[in-house]
Amino acid sequence: MSRRANADNRAGERPAAEWMARAVDAARTTHPHPNPRVGAIVLTADGLLASEAVHESPGEPHAEAAALERAGAAAAGGTLVVTLEPCDHHGRTGPCTEVILAAGIARVVVGAVDPDPHVAGAGIRRLREAGLTVDVGVLAGAVETMDPGYFHHRRTGRPRVTLKLAATLDGQTAAADGTSQWITGEAARADAHQLRAESDAVMVGAGTLRVDDPRLDVRLDGFTGPQPRPIVVAGHHPLPETAAVFTRRPLVYSPQRRGDLGDGVELEVLWHPTGVDLAAMMKDLGGRGVVDLLVEGGPTLAASLLGADLVDVFVLYFGGGIAGGVGRPLFEGEFTTLSDLTGFDVVSARLVGTDVRIDARPSRGVE
Ligand SMILES: NC(=O)c1ccc[n+]([C@@H]2O[C@H](COP(=O)([O-])OP(=O)(O)OC[C@H]3O[C@@H](n4cnc5c(N)ncnc54)[C@H](OP(=O)(O)O)[C@@H]3O)[C@@H](O)[C@H]2O)c1
Repeated sequence: MSRRANADNRAGERPAAEWMARAVDAARTTHPHPNPRVGAIVLTADGLLASEAVHESPGEPHAEAAALERAGAAAAGGTLVVTLEPCDHHGRTGPCTEVILAAGIARVVVGAVDPDPHVAGAGIRRLREAGLTVDVGVLAGAVETMDPGYFHHRRTGRPRVTLKLAATLDGQTAAADGTSQWITGEAARADAHQLRAESDAVMVGAGTLRVDDPRLDVRLDGFTGPQPRPIVVAGHHPLPETAAVFTRRPLVYSPQRRGDLGDGVELEVLWHPTGVDLAAMMKDLGGRGVVDLLVEGGPTLAASLLGADLVDVFVLYFGGGIAGGVGRPLFEGEFTTLSDLTGFDVVSARLVGTDVRIDARPSRGVE
């Protein structure tokens, strides 16, 4: 047993919430989407740590199955602490409920009920029917906060959409000539790369593709996780053949068939009188397993998504410069009267280097 496990064992019988907090922390850094982040801990019948595991990636063992395998015979009569309700159906792996029953576990402590319609209480019912003690809801809020995109995706069928924009202190996202690199400093840009690292896909509009030619990849030292898929929303104007993102197997949504896309670019046509059918696009992305979507602008796409009520989190970086005039706004369009305001609640504001990051959510209370 490791030195850490020995130290934990000396703590003897610890409250389930402490073990749950440890399982949540372990799962936090994983990226198994479209599957959930899950952490599991097995305690012996004496309440000592036997093993722990996380769910690493789709197709790999679920956290509880991995932890139980590591625990072996030590699990008999013991407790399983798991952040998310165990599954009771066959997916790429077998039902975790069967593994739990086979291991002889006596008590299961569950963080959150799994909102996936394939689970949704069935795992808990099965374990209770088999005579196990099942406690549900231990640190459920922390479990959901650790992987909010998963809960949103399973409840709505679409990704959790984070819209990120950077503006001058007086709210301009680009100069009239289109230049915008860079409005914010290095620390804020690294912070934005962390947002990419936590996302399954990163989206821009065709205007940003034409002007900024972004790669939309994560460029952070030590990043080993899966790269987010690049996504472009394009209307009726041509796209540049040499765009850097075209080397990264992008997905292009357009209201029309088009001949300006090279090999390796996937086109999805979703027509709507105003351009791409954005609600259908989000359903399509959800179906493709995109759980966390980061939208990096620009102002036209941002306005379309805001107008369609498809922004779940708004991250705004304010750089130190003042434009002192009219260039490009955060959201394209006109603000004719105060009742046009879209209600957002600021949930945090902090300095990132010499810039300010503000996080806000729609007042409609979307998670
Ligand atoms: N500061 C920042 O955070 C930030 C971020 C991104 C971009 N920018 C700046 O913003 C400027 C570009 O602005 P922009 O408004 O042109 O950028 P954009 O929103 O990225 O692109 C606009 C284009 O995207 C397509 N599009 C957007 N919504 C659509 C919909 N619902 N259906 C179909 N097509 C849709 C259209 O393509 P078609 O043209 O093909 O019709 C539209 O002209 C650049 O100067 C860039 O540097 C700043």
